Amino acid sequence: MGTIPSQLIEQIAAANDIVEVIGSYFPLKRGGASFKALCPFHQEKTPSFTVNPSRQTFHCFGCGVGGSVFRFVMDYEHIDFPSAVRKLAARAGIPVVEERSVSGEDDRQHETRRALLKLHAEAAAWFHENLLKRDFAAPARGYLKERGIDRKIVDNWQLGFAPESWDACLKWALDRGYQRGQILQSGLVKLRDETRAESEVYDRFRGRIMFPICNDVGEVIAFSGRVFEKEIETAKYLNSPETPLFRKGNVLFGLHKTKRSLIEASCAIVCEGQLDLITLFEAGITNVVAPQGTAFTEQQARILKRFVSEVVLCFDADAAGQKAAERSLDALLQNDLVIRVAEMPAGEDPDSLVRDRGREEFEKRVHDAQDFFDYWIERETAKRNLNSLGEKMQLARALAETISRVHDPFMRGQIISKSSARLRVSAKEFERLLSSAKRPAGSPSRDSRCGMRRYVLFFSHKIGAKFLRKYQTPIC
Ligand code: CTP
Ligand code: MN
Repeated sequence: MGTIPSQLIEQIAAANDIVEVIGSYFPLKRGGASFKALCPFHQEKTPSFTVNPSRQTFHCFGCGVGGSVFRFVMDYEHIDFPSAVRKLAARAGIPVVEERSVSGEDDRQHETRRALLKLHAEAAAWFHENLLKRDFAAPARGYLKERGIDRKIVDNWQLGFAPESWDACLKWALDRGYQRGQILQSGLVKLRDETRAESEVYDRFRGRIMFPICNDVGEVIAFSGRVFEKEIETAKYLNSPETPLFRKGNVLFGLHKTKRSLIEASCAIVCEGQLDLITLFEAGITNVVAPQGTAFTEQQARILKRFVSEVVLCFDADAAGQKAAERSLDALLQNDLVIRVAEMPAGEDPDSLVRDRGREEFEKRVHDAQDFFDYWIERETAKRNLNSLGEKMQLARALAETISRVHDPFMRGQIISKSSARLRVSAKEFERLLSSAKRPAGSPSRDSRCGMRRYVLFFSHKIGAKFLRKYQTPIC
């Protein structure tokens, strides 16, 4: 990738008044020549966070953080320097043209990404416009209305509509000046014959409500499209394929909007799908992410770890949801995340629960969410007849295998005593089994891992949510 010329960085800094930028995140109060607020980087009751307009700097006398407008955006948004520069450039409407680097290959890759980002941004706007304005999107508008998704939500998430056509999107993109190859690379169109690069292409998304999928700085990098007519027998959701911009396992839907709440709450509510996330977010439960129907990948867990120390899994009550919860365990444990499981009533998901029974009912379930191991021990024991020695041994081994992944001594001790009590064996006996528990071949050693951060289940009150005062309250 190229570098951003220092002159341009200065220009971007000059165009972003620090008081305005910080003031767009939370209110600042004038106090003499400077501005004050409660510090967003540590807990405090009296404001020691100051912004100095003449020096264009911020500083907290309480925790010592401080620096330029770029530093603030980096720390507040948890993004790196180039991303902060780009974000502030976009805010001021300054195009960022990076200097060519020495490597031609890097340049080409960068160029490809840039063009694809532009195509995705424009396609999202086109789908959105279709949904809002076109006659052919009337049934889609009706469907969303029926699901309680109003205009404000449609705008907030830039929901769109892909026409029921083989080439409407293709034609639109060609008209905008994009090359066939680029459009194909974006995944918006598909080859009729996958084995022949020259074969005809057609629109991938047809007659679907479109959900733009964004990266953590809010750039559209892919789409997920939902059918809404009941009689259509095709996958309910269709996603963009892997592209130079998008790998499903690396993305958490909604993160660009929920990041701040995650940091505030230090806890992530994990739901399965985009509509779950949107409904929760719009209901004011904003510390949410969605891996979009899959179990957590290692990469997603690592991303989450940057923002939180605990996750509450709110997967569907159905078998697929339960499986996804269990399959997420490994990646989450590897990242020393404390895991709890909030159970949904049969047949419900977070979206339907909030709509049918209200936000409080959902919050209560998150509050009451069981520690993962309690939940898991219960499920495993319920499945088996403990009067059968064979089944009891099988269960003991299964429990031991999972517990062997936990390195924090306190947490381990707790789980061992719970498990052994449940199995009605002594803790000593159970521990013997634990030391011989072998990990399945090929799985990584966890010896280097440090312990779980925390094992206390809590309801976090510290999230007084000074930034989210208006209507958004993260819960945990
Ligand atoms: N999903 C997918 N492809 C499918 C089905 C599901 O990618 N064919 C993903 C979507 O992200 C979806 C999530 O898995 O949101 C959960 O699937 P499901 O529970 O079936 O759908 P809901 O999220 O409940 O969606 P809706 O409420 O719109 O029916
Ligand atoms: Mn649903």
